[in-house]
Amino acid sequence: MAENPVQTDKLSEKQYEYMNLIAEIMDIRKLGEKPLAFIRTYGCQQNVADSERIKGMLEKSGFGFTETPEDADFILFNTCAVREHAEDRVFGNVGALKNIKRKHPHILIALCGCMMEQEHIANRIYKSFPFVGLVFGTHSLHHFPELMYDALCNGRRVFERGNDDKKIYEGFPIRRDGSFKGWLPIMYGCNNFCTYCIVPYVRGRERSREKDVIISEAREMIGSGYKDITLLGQNVNSYGKTLDEPLSFASLISEIDEIEGDYWLRFMTSHPKDCSRELIDAIAGGRHISRHLHLPFQSGSDRILKAMNRHYDRKKYLDIVSYAKERIPGVSLTSDIIVGFPGETYEDFKQTLSLVREVEFTSLYTFIYSPRVGTPAASMDDPIPAAEKSKWFRELLDIQEEIAAKRCASMVGQTERVLIEEVKEKTGELNARTSGNIIVELEGGESLVGSFRNVKITSARNWILKGEIVKE
Ligand code: 5AD
Ligand code: SF4
Repeated sequence: MAENPVQTDKLSEKQYEYMNLIAEIMDIRKLGEKPLAFIRTYGCQQNVADSERIKGMLEKSGFGFTETPEDADFILFNTCAVREHAEDRVFGNVGALKNIKRKHPHILIALCGCMMEQEHIANRIYKSFPFVGLVFGTHSLHHFPELMYDALCNGRRVFERGNDDKKIYEGFPIRRDGSFKGWLPIMYGCNNFCTYCIVPYVRGRERSREKDVIISEAREMIGSGYKDITLLGQNVNSYGKTLDEPLSFASLISEIDEIEGDYWLRFMTSHPKDCSRELIDAIAGGRHISRHLHLPFQSGSDRILKAMNRHYDRKKYLDIVSYAKERIPGVSLTSDIIVGFPGETYEDFKQTLSLVREVEFTSLYTFIYSPRVGTPAASMDDPIPAAEKSKWFRELLDIQEEIAAKRCASMVGQTERVLIEEVKEKTGELNARTSGNIIVELEGGESLVGSFRNVKITSARNWILKGEIVKE
């Protein structure tokens, strides 16, 4: 039994009553016409999954959805706090809503998500954006209908943050964005406190959803035609530690993998400090688990990894990678990297470059370090000028482009199973993705979208492949 098992609660009846009340009010205000919501999501897939729950609650409150903010009765931005750039975009876009509010005074403008859990941000919104009527943080999702009702009816601005009761809530209505690609959160929060990262402060302590709830959500998704399901958590490798009966992530994914059907199972994000051989064995032996490991290493320098509080070193990372390459032939590895962490020298950065060359990643998500208020790294000495960091960043991109191009070129002639995802607007070609998450462009009709096909790779351009469907 876990030391402090996390309590699970259900979205309460009261919240469903608020959804009905919102529907009644909107019906009167709109004289029977369907009210519309515009939802914009910034940041990671966890935010996308939260927005799908908010949309589910709005749908139950009688709302339809629009892509045009001017047509909406309710506008919501679900925000991201992970880097300054994401926050600046939100501030810019919120500022632009002022005109819409002036033209349509009855519109309710709301902000939620990670940025709103930070006191200095909520205060700035309160003071500088008086037309924002509702603000709530990541811990308030389970009483969003009540907050919205309050903001709609009581003529006052509703602000709520810091509401972490350390529980898990189930029973949300969900309106998923995709019909064959979907997200399945298995845990929330993070306990790692990497020194650069704001996430543990805005999403609270790690807590895992019950295995049975996850399995039944997976069954439901597979049953209704989902072909590509990504299990989500900040650190999926520590799944299960807060459960009454602790369970490893490797066991969870292997159990989901037993569900019959035609689908791929993905997961993100894995933390190298907890990435077990058992998990790699589970991928190797899986029937549906994609042969892809997203394993952020952040820096190739042991000195910087220590300053980042990452709890692994370069050697441990490379050991996991070589085990993965041995057990899963052709495994696709991807990673996150931070360039220019406080105190990083060019010598440290060269260690990152050499690790990138050694591993040969399929693709990388690269970021220039961005100081976050309240994190330990924000008060560390940071003498390297921004222009120098940008130069290093460019050097990293150039090396990765070369590696990705080489990897893609080596796939020409192979046959790959792909999931066809969309018709490209510009060219009318199809975009598909391999199990290793590499994009393949194909000729074919719209009716193929959402299906698996075997494809012969005919050519490669940088990190994109071209292919032809193999007749089956
Ligand atoms: N600055 C730059 N990148 C960051 N990340 C997290 N915090 C910061 C920050 N303060 C990156 C990490 C993480 C990814 C989701 O975002 O690489 O893995
Ligand atoms: Fe942030 Fe580190 Fe937690 Fe990832 S593992 S969310 S980088 S603190």
